[in-house]
Amino acid sequence: MSRSAHPAGPRHADVLPEGHYTAPAADLNVLDPKVWAQTVTRTESGSVSVGGIDVADLAEEFGTPAYFVDEADFRARARAWRTAFGHDADVFYAGKAFLSRAVVRWLHEEGLNLDVCSGGELTTTLSAGMPADRIAFHGNNKSVEEITKAIEVGVGRIVLDSFQEIVRVAHIAQSLGKRQRVQIRVTVGVEAHTHEFIATAHEDQKFGIALADGQAAEAVRRALTLDGLELIGIHSHIGSQIFDMAGFEVAARRVVSLLAQVRDEHGVELPEIDLGGGLGIAYTSDDDPREPHEIAKALGEIVTRECEAARLRTPRISVEPGRAIVGPTAFTLYEVGTVKPLEGLRTYVSVDGGMSDNIRTALYDAEYSVALVSRTSDAEPMLVRVVGKHCESGDIVVKDAFLPSDLAPGDLIAVPATGAYCRSMASNYNHALRPPVVAVRDGEARVIVRRETEEDLLRLDVG
Ligand code: LLP
Repeated sequence: MSRSAHPAGPRHADVLPEGHYTAPAADLNVLDPKVWAQTVTRTESGSVSVGGIDVADLAEEFGTPAYFVDEADFRARARAWRTAFGHDADVFYAGKAFLSRAVVRWLHEEGLNLDVCSGGELTTTLSAGMPADRIAFHGNNKSVEEITKAIEVGVGRIVLDSFQEIVRVAHIAQSLGKRQRVQIRVTVGVEAHTHEFIATAHEDQKFGIALADGQAAEAVRRALTLDGLELIGIHSHIGSQIFDMAGFEVAARRVVSLLAQVRDEHGVELPEIDLGGGLGIAYTSDDDPREPHEIAKALGEIVTRECEAARLRTPRISVEPGRAIVGPTAFTLYEVGTVKPLEGLRTYVSVDGGMSDNIRTALYDAEYSVALVSRTSDAEPMLVRVVGKHCESGDIVVKDAFLPSDLAPGDLIAVPATGAYCRSMASNYNHALRPPVVAVRDGEARVIVRRETEEDLLRLDVG
């Protein structure tokens, strides 16, 4: 639910500007379970805990800013996807959302597969023991080295993204004496209801091969003639942070009609279709995401219905949720530094991180929630903008939110739903040290990605 930028509004809840703002929650101390990880709760002392550990203790031990991931929640969400899709379908977690070796192990244990889109993601995934045949390799410009490695280690599938890549992968596979299982990524002409930068299935963009003008059918024809390739199916990914199943419905219908065309033209029934990722999560209380079992049911029904109509065997379905698994399971913990009230406008709350640990607000106009987590407060709500410490006025973490008006330097605040595309898109802008990721479970916390140090920065700078 993206709202467009708007002029700053007044500072207090009782004089809200017109339009855009959601009124403050009746009680700012209450944590909406929709946006917080499952084990996050406010303790009797007033502070917040996750996995049974108080955030003040976490801040003390691991410092701020830091990402804390609720391992039990992560596993539960992964399992929910796996269970919802059952044995006739595959769930590939999209590693781009957040990837670390611990997470790969959790996914392996919970029976999920993994989608990678770079040599770095492939290496990380393999090094944590994920069997290669459970890995899908994506990307619109995979290098020859990446393709060679993927084929050598035996990835389960490579998703072909262009006519050139069909030939490139076939050639490399053949020269290695292998036949590589592949899917062809098609663009189905659906523009998902989301921010333009993260919509990927309309035609004027870099991914996939268009269904339009028979291009995808031609790609299938070519792939079927090449010895180095075993074409197992068609792939479609229509965008990100999608709530409405209508886009998936259109995509599934179009992919199935391509399968029917392939059957008619080549006598081949391709056994799989992958409908990609992109399912939305709740960043604020206004968002209403679908549950995995609803999504599985809806997708299964659409595909089955379309296949029956086309008299095709129902293919094996796969999906690639990234954000929907990891997004809600983590929050970023910050310490409040400067609190700057701008009379008649709003209060700027500066924290010890910023656009280097969460670029999504600056890049996509993304919305987030925020809460005071080191204590409760009965002070009246004030309209705030949570900003970072970078030398850039667009360095905004939470554009519009309400925090108690007695907020002070040293308070801890947390931004929920930062598990996806925050650490994975973090940068060293202003030579910031990227924060650690700490997994918390059953009263124990352990670093799964450590904080960068100044030595790390100097190690890369060879002088
Ligand atoms: N499969 C493919 C082929 C993808 O390209 C993506 C995301 C996914 C699956 C996973 O999508 P998810 O379920 O996580 O939405 N950086 C942006 C999102 C870019 C996603 C790119 N591809 C963001 O922060 O919103």
